[in-house]
Amino acid sequence: MKIITHISEMQQWTKENGGHSIGLVPTMGALHEGHLSLVRAARKESGRVVASIFVNPTQFGPKEDLKNYPRPIARDRKLLDEEKVDVLFYPSAREMYPDGFQTEVRVKGLTEGLCGKFRPVHFAGMTTVVAKLFNAVLPAKAYFGAKDYQQAMVVKRMVRDLNFPVEIRMLETVRERDGLAMSSRNAYLNRMERIKAPMVNLALDYAEALIRQGLRDTDQIQTEIRGFLKPFVSKIDYIEVVHPENLMPIRRFQGTGLLAIACYIGATRLIDNRLVNQHGTKVPGTYYAKTTS
Ligand code: PAJ
Repeated sequence: MKIITHISEMQQWTKENGGHSIGLVPTMGALHEGHLSLVRAARKESGRVVASIFVNPTQFGPKEDLKNYPRPIARDRKLLDEEKVDVLFYPSAREMYPDGFQTEVRVKGLTEGLCGKFRPVHFAGMTTVVAKLFNAVLPAKAYFGAKDYQQAMVVKRMVRDLNFPVEIRMLETVRERDGLAMSSRNAYLNRMERIKAPMVNLALDYAEALIRQGLRDTDQIQTEIRGFLKPFVSKIDYIEVVHPENLMPIRRFQGTGLLAIACYIGATRLIDNRLVNQHGTKVPGTYYAKTTS
């Protein structure tokens, strides 16, 4: 596996590999099976696979965990090597944001709800860095996880609005055996918190069951879920039922809705989501990403 740290060298490599379709998996490292599922999909679908590791400072708020974010680079490198990744793109913050950097890529509507309300600088930082990664790697396809459903939909919007010649692929959330969505941030959980953490996924099971039983009022669904989670969490950012494409809150459940939760277990912020139809049946998390282009 080749390791490239400079944007110009990355672009040069892409030029030299122009005959192959390139699949990009953007990450912030501390890799787990969720990330690796994206790498494996890229390996299957693309002639060349580039994974990027960059803990992007501009998508963290001033009180967030940029400093403590795990950076096990030797382990990550080994994992990517074992997955037969062709290039690890591993730029420094200076390389990505040199002195005088002044540009921001910002998607409006889709970033206003859900996590956008609680992490005001997050999505603009994320779209800016993803746009830069697309320009550095020039991939034909880029891979994102449904765990960060809003992020994937925002990236899809950016790609359409700015005509990036890249296909966005959204893949299912990979979970621990007890249902907890895998996340680099799970490493922050202490033993007792780790026991509580699967309750977030169980809360989504509960919401799904309520819908199956015919509950349609999303205010009531939220109240039920809040009561369910309360004993286990230290804070709830949101429990929302939104339209799966425009991410606007739904008042009465019909068709398919995205149930989304962001809450804190101890000091660790966890998110999870699930697509559910009006029969209270799971819809693959990637359904809307595949059918809307
Ligand atoms: P990071 O949190 O490292 O996630 C990288 C990719 O892995 C994202 O597309 C995310 O949705 C996906 N992912 C994380 N956990 C997953 C899980 N349990 N199952 C499936 N996929 C999962 O998201 C980011 O980094 C950054 O915002 C980034 C896009 C790299 C821009 O900085």
